[in-house]
Amino acid sequence: MKESGEKISMLTAYDFSFAKIIDGAGIDVILVGDSASNVMAGHETTLPITLDQMIYHASSVIRAVNRSLVVVDLPFGSYQSNSDIALASAIKIMKESGGHSIKLEGGEEVLDSIKKIVSAGIPVMGHLGLTPQSIYKFGTYTVRAKEEEEANKLRNDAKLLEDAGCFAIVLEKIPASLAKEVSASISIPTIGIGAGGNCDGQVLVMHDMLGINTEFKPRFLRQYLNVAEQATTAVQQYIKDVKSNDFPNESEQY
Ligand code: KIV
Repeated sequence: MKESGEKISMLTAYDFSFAKIIDGAGIDVILVGDSASNVMAGHETTLPITLDQMIYHASSVIRAVNRSLVVVDLPFGSYQSNSDIALASAIKIMKESGGHSIKLEGGEEVLDSIKKIVSAGIPVMGHLGLTPQSIYKFGTYTVRAKEEEEANKLRNDAKLLEDAGCFAIVLEKIPASLAKEVSASISIPTIGIGAGGNCDGQVLVMHDMLGINTEFKPRFLRQYLNVAEQATTAVQQYIKDVKSNDFPNESEQY
């Protein structure tokens, strides 16, 4: 798709019902993101979610998917210690969830792990720029790699990830000009989120783009629906109908 110039569409999903809708709509890639920690479990960061919880979400998604590529995030703590632990975590995800590939955050620091996982036959997606598992190192969710030193590290990391065998790289919240340059400098696709229009694909968190989660409104987000508003109206109508004895009516009973 990168070679032919066709942009890659990717969205997150964490459960069977939404994965069925997203897969049926024709998405290219479904990411079972560790953002499940935020949007499904209500945690402030992605750090608390466990490997077993990721497997639960991923296996629910896999049961719904007929055609999309499913990428599953390795959660915080499941790969940072050493490459043997990283490989064991990746194998556990592949075996127990049925996912098609894994994603992990970081560049040079996780290179040995990426090589080991790729050698085991597991496709790996990289993730550079704003890497939310390192939020307590960054201290803020602001745009990354604006300074030359961090931009140079990202340029270098992208090449290392390509050489290590990653099949794609997520670029999160970096300047559009840097994302454009990196996308042109490597042969594997880049998938951007808050990284401008010159990445080879785009990803959004489903709850943000459908307007389920309405508190998160960064500049890069395009909201396609307001599910929170519509669901609230529907629930309020249901409450009214129950209270007024309008529901159920004659045709809604046995
Ligand atoms: O966990 C996630 O949803 C992600 C995307 C934001 C890329 O990693």
